[in-house]
Amino acid sequence: MAAQQVRGVIAPGKNEPVQIRTILIPDPGPGEAVVKVQACGVCHTDLHYKQGGISDDYPFLLGHEASGVVEAVGEGVTDVEPGDFVILNWRAVCGQCRACLRGRPWYCFNTHNAQQKMTLEDGTELSPALGIGAFADKTLVAAGQCTKVDPSVSPAVAGLLGCGVMAGIGAAINTGGVGRGDSVAVIGCGGVGDAAIAGANLAGAAKIIAVDIDDRKLDKARTMGATHTVNSKETDPVEAIRDLTGGFGADVVIEAVGRPETYKQAFYARDLAGTVVLVGVPTPEMKLELPLLDVFGRGGSLKSSWYGDCLPSRDFPMLVDLHQQGRLDLAAFVTETIELDAVEQAFDRMHQGDVLRSVVVL
Ligand code: APR
Ligand code: ZN
Ligand code: ZN
Repeated sequence: MAAQQVRGVIAPGKNEPVQIRTILIPDPGPGEAVVKVQACGVCHTDLHYKQGGISDDYPFLLGHEASGVVEAVGEGVTDVEPGDFVILNWRAVCGQCRACLRGRPWYCFNTHNAQQKMTLEDGTELSPALGIGAFADKTLVAAGQCTKVDPSVSPAVAGLLGCGVMAGIGAAINTGGVGRGDSVAVIGCGGVGDAAIAGANLAGAAKIIAVDIDDRKLDKARTMGATHTVNSKETDPVEAIRDLTGGFGADVVIEAVGRPETYKQAFYARDLAGTVVLVGVPTPEMKLELPLLDVFGRGGSLKSSWYGDCLPSRDFPMLVDLHQQGRLDLAAFVTETIELDAVEQAFDRMHQGDVLRSVVVL
């Protein structure tokens, strides 16, 4: 069968505006699936691809926070079949790498993507963002990137679990191990930080302190479950968090900005033997300087959270179910739904600070 022609949003070159182009989707080969995309959120990582911050493998097929319906599967695919409603993940675990063999598949070091390439009409191979490429009517992925969830959930809501919202919730519940009665502080209340707040709330944290430099973000954070807010432009966040925790600091502090200053705040705002979770993604030139004696003397653990240390097959269906039961408001993360041709404007709006997520709905 011939490849199918569909629309897709590509980043053609460094800092060039995105374009809607016709892309060719091959039939799924062994272990692959073609998914009809229903919704795809606009994430900072898509913007980083466009800006050249991730690699130079232009053109990129952008979009990676998506849900949709499996249209066709290739040879040997048994976990999903045509008609299944799925969230796309960028952690299709291999089962054979050293992390998987140690029983820690959420760290899998050899995750699967489709083997075949999607292309432009002239045959130019596309690099799909995070091995997904879902700002498109359809996309080709490894079947393991398709995680089945309850099909009655809204596609726009479900897709968000594919990246940013899972990263935040997972930073709290998987990496941070937040439990009932814990005090938690979250520095940076964008989509990821707010998801960490929602995750901490879900896990039964007794106190959830939201820190941001923008009052609008703090107002939103309260609706996500923050019990206290600190504007760190006006107030020293380390002192404020200590004041709110009996003078000691929080049990778990989640850094959802990705900067050395905010990491230091997280480091000193945690109680002795507490946990710092870095989920914000720094840039290559950033350096961290800390007295080594403080690293030793304050004890505890300093962790990074990759994709919320999630295991899609375990976490996506569970979080969708909690949402459907009214116990986790994932819809609150969808600020607006947009058309496929509005991705560039959505990138602009990201910077204005009034959007948690713009979601392309197809
Ligand atoms: N102190 C506190 N908050 C800050 C600071 C600071 N110095 N600088 C920025 N912020 C806040 C912003 O006001 C905003 O609310 O951090 C938030 C960042 O949110 P977004 O830009 O919406 O980013 P988000 O999608 O939440 O991602 C946050 O996690 O996965 C990573 O790559 C992602 O590094 C990014 C981070
Ligand atoms: Zn593996
Ligand atoms: Zn993302």
